[in-house]
Amino acid sequence: MLTNLRPAHPVRQGPLLNLAALLVLGAAIIHLAVVPMHWEEYLPFGLFFVLAGALQASLALGIVVLRNRRLLLAAAALDLGIVAVYVVSRTAGVPVGPHPWQPESIGIPDVVCTLMEVVAVPLLLARALRRPRRPRSRGPVFVAVAAVPSLLVVGALTTVGSAAAIDHMPYAFNVGPMVPGRPSTDLDLLTEAPGTQPVESFTLTAEPRTIEGQQAWTFNGTVPGPELHVIQGDRLRVTLVNHLPAATTIHWHGVPGLPNAEDGVAGITQQAVPPGHSMVYEFVAREPGTYWYHSHQDTGTQLSKGLFGALVVEPRGGQAEKRDYTVVLHSTVGGGAVAMNGSTGDTRLAARPGDTVRLRLVNAVVPGMDGTPEAPVLLGAPYRVVALDGRDLTGPGTLGPERLLLGMGQRADLVFTMPASGAVRLVDTEQQGATTAVQRALTPRPTALAATVAVGDGQAPASGDPASLPVFDATTYGTPAPDPVAAGPFDATYPIVLNEQPGFRDGTVQLVHTINGSSSPNVPPITVREGEVVRLHIVNETGEYHPMHLHGHTLSVLARNGAQVQGSPVHLDTVLVGPHQTWDVAFAADNPGIWMFHCHVLLHASMGMMMTVNYAGITTPYEMGTRSGNVPE
Ligand code: C2O
Ligand code: CU
Repeated sequence: MLTNLRPAHPVRQGPLLNLAALLVLGAAIIHLAVVPMHWEEYLPFGLFFVLAGALQASLALGIVVLRNRRLLLAAAALDLGIVAVYVVSRTAGVPVGPHPWQPESIGIPDVVCTLMEVVAVPLLLARALRRPRRPRSRGPVFVAVAAVPSLLVVGALTTVGSAAAIDHMPYAFNVGPMVPGRPSTDLDLLTEAPGTQPVESFTLTAEPRTIEGQQAWTFNGTVPGPELHVIQGDRLRVTLVNHLPAATTIHWHGVPGLPNAEDGVAGITQQAVPPGHSMVYEFVAREPGTYWYHSHQDTGTQLSKGLFGALVVEPRGGQAEKRDYTVVLHSTVGGGAVAMNGSTGDTRLAARPGDTVRLRLVNAVVPGMDGTPEAPVLLGAPYRVVALDGRDLTGPGTLGPERLLLGMGQRADLVFTMPASGAVRLVDTEQQGATTAVQRALTPRPTALAATVAVGDGQAPASGDPASLPVFDATTYGTPAPDPVAAGPFDATYPIVLNEQPGFRDGTVQLVHTINGSSSPNVPPITVREGEVVRLHIVNETGEYHPMHLHGHTLSVLARNGAQVQGSPVHLDTVLVGPHQTWDVAFAADNPGIWMFHCHVLLHASMGMMMTVNYAGITTPYEMGTRSGNVPE
């Protein structure tokens, strides 16, 4: 048999033949690496790749050992065939499988693999069709040495392609699966109980709009979307109508006691609402405060395009201040600038001398990789920070101009009295791009941004030099008060170590962001039982800022860098963990469900800095991944 295959005049041994064989072998390895992903998706696809990989691997081996012309031609034909199938699957789509006639997305493994096949074909043909000559004698040492560069290049390509294939985007992932034989409650049942609260109905239509020449995705045509203003105790009934070309959801960021089924997280608490469909969210606004809402499907894209707005819950007894304004800080739709309530210039808000004013600041600015917070400054009147993340502070003292760091997702309520003459001005400052000590030393000092809000008539104070201002410190502000959660005891303490390193994730090379060494969806959830008090010890091992947001709960801050909270209890839903800082926080497990806990820097979340807090016995029927189309980050 072998003698049959080995021709009298074998194809000449040499570096090019070896390179061709290596390229075929590399493609074979990548095809085998994608088998698990395709097997899960559709069995025949899995089998196709087993076959393609096995055939290519045997041909590669045969080429080197037997140097038979026909084997070279067969390998070239196989490669061409596979490339043809590839091109069809990425353009017209193949007629079979879970999504017939739908072009598949292009990933690293297929790009690398196709590249190797395309290069291999002419090499194989050239070697096969070359007229046989008397072999020039080349020693085995020459052949071995000449193969080294090919080995290195093809080896590297194969490693990249197959590593990306093995670490692919999950096809289907359930963060709270049902376990047969174990009693469980489906989170779909965790809705708002019926009641007699006054109903406030809203419709939020998600729709594309062109805003200042940019393609925005909006709620009701504006960025930010409309402010939803309700009274404590109201029952909100919000209809989301999806007129976008993509599926979407609404998450109610920070609302205390929000029922889990209303949390709006695609792939965890619901199926994303497809284009042309709608869905009703219903919940009671139990606590007054400043909250916000945003899409939680493909959040990094959809929030950046404009799908967010403010949610204000006024105290039942009426608002305490004469003037009550919300100022949403956000990125302009094309990115690149910070706006306040949709304007990048000066906005004027009405107030008379002597009026009390509340400014509800919401930070929806999408930060870059460093996660840098915004740092608004109030100029022109002494003020108090009366609430953070919608939760009141006790005994807040009067402050002069300070930089108030707000991580993405965080809110702060400022209260002041209008001076006898002149206006009060809110400016925003930033110190971007400083993720390492060296960069911080080199980075320009904080700068004031163009967008400002002036309250009242007359001259507004100039922005001044923000670098000279102190930074507001919530952990030493206000007066102490009992905080039953912070007082402990704690039923459990969990370390939350935040880190990053370059690597493969979802089939691409990323700066993978990890929690306790793993990235979403592979970070093991924290499992809690209703009634427990849970402490989190958050350690930031990166030079970036991580505003860590826990859905559905209130975090009591215990300490920052080991120093206990001195003043008012600090209650947050998003804790801004600065470069190399350590924060201890605790929460009462008082709201059953499956809850996201993630960095609100959307880039970091999409690169893996996401996990869930699961109540024992609660399961979800939803899944994330390519099959369902749900991508919560
Ligand atoms: Cu403001 Cu998980 O979100
Ligand atoms: Cu982060």
